[in-house]
Amino acid sequence: MVGKVCGTGSYVPAHVMSNDDLARIVDTNDEWIRERTGIGRRHIIDGETTSYMAGQAAKKALEQSGIDPEEIDIILLATSSSETVYPCAACEVQKMIGAKHAAGYDLNAACTGFVMAFNAAQAYISAGFCRTVLVIGAESMSNMVDWTDRGTCILFGDGAGAVILRAAEGAPVHMAAHSDGKKGVALTGLSRHRKDWEKEPEDGSVKESFIHMDGQAVFKFAVRKVPEIIEEVLEESGTGLDEIDYFVLHQANRRIIEAVARRLKTDIGKFPMNLEEYANTSAATVPILLDEMNRGGMLKKGQKIMTAGFGAGLTWAASLFEW
Ligand code: UT7
Repeated sequence: MVGKVCGTGSYVPAHVMSNDDLARIVDTNDEWIRERTGIGRRHIIDGETTSYMAGQAAKKALEQSGIDPEEIDIILLATSSSETVYPCAACEVQKMIGAKHAAGYDLNAACTGFVMAFNAAQAYISAGFCRTVLVIGAESMSNMVDWTDRGTCILFGDGAGAVILRAAEGAPVHMAAHSDGKKGVALTGLSRHRKDWEKEPEDGSVKESFIHMDGQAVFKFAVRKVPEIIEEVLEESGTGLDEIDYFVLHQANRRIIEAVARRLKTDIGKFPMNLEEYANTSAATVPILLDEMNRGGMLKKGQKIMTAGFGAGLTWAASLFEW
């Protein structure tokens, strides 16, 4: 048995912050941000929480799938920015959607979190441990970033995406996942709530609590490791590169995605992107993009989709599945 996607959903806050809005907070400009990242805007929470956004995305996925929430066996929620450590956001979602038979837990692999959770769900299903899994990526990155650091605050946005997997006969799902803790220092973060940082004195100590990133190191890591892991999964599955219909990659930076396409010598048209609108929503980028593709009519039964995520840890993972 494999987990077939039978519903997708997403939620992004209505509140939008443009590059010009950011230029009023830090020394930056629209041209620099677009040229270096491809990002034009980001949606930022305005009263929403991570679990609220996750619950909204889950409701939409459920509605599309036609599945009764009580049929869900497990909720896997990938996040690194939930406002609460416990109860975990997955349990909050369980409550919101009435999935009373489901077990739920959160999983943190930063921006790689959704692909890691998707792979875990596939393993649960193929082992016969469960039939119906709700996989979510949800983030309030605006609570994590240092809004005085132009090197990072321009990159991130908030949102959630959800996918429902149902056990079915079908082509096997192929996957790979890796971590390199020795390089973890390239991207670190401790969560704090917005109401806290607004009160902090500007003595520099605040920054210890937010995201720290060596942008170029992360960029180089992504451009090297993403093509490698895609090739690893292709080789393991005996699939040719040209058989893949879409490469649904973590939406961190347009230049990273273009570089991966070049390295794989593959048409950039097979790499859908939406980071111009949402920026990097960490674990939520892949499911938000999948939902947009699904609802936009881009996805047809039998198409081969390669997802890949990368981020803090350092972590990276990929999954090849049929729609
Ligand atoms: O999910 C994974 C999350 N992380 C990532 O995806 C990060 C991957 N890395 C990147 O996307 C890129 O490294 C960045 C977009 C973060 C930075 O782009 P870059 O081309 O590596 O720029 P840089 O850090 O080398 O900075 C170039 C210049 C510097 O000025 P000087 O030293 O040349 O005078 C920076 O101070 O650009 C300056 N700069 C900015 N200027 C305007 C840095 N940030 C900004 C900014 N606006 N926001």
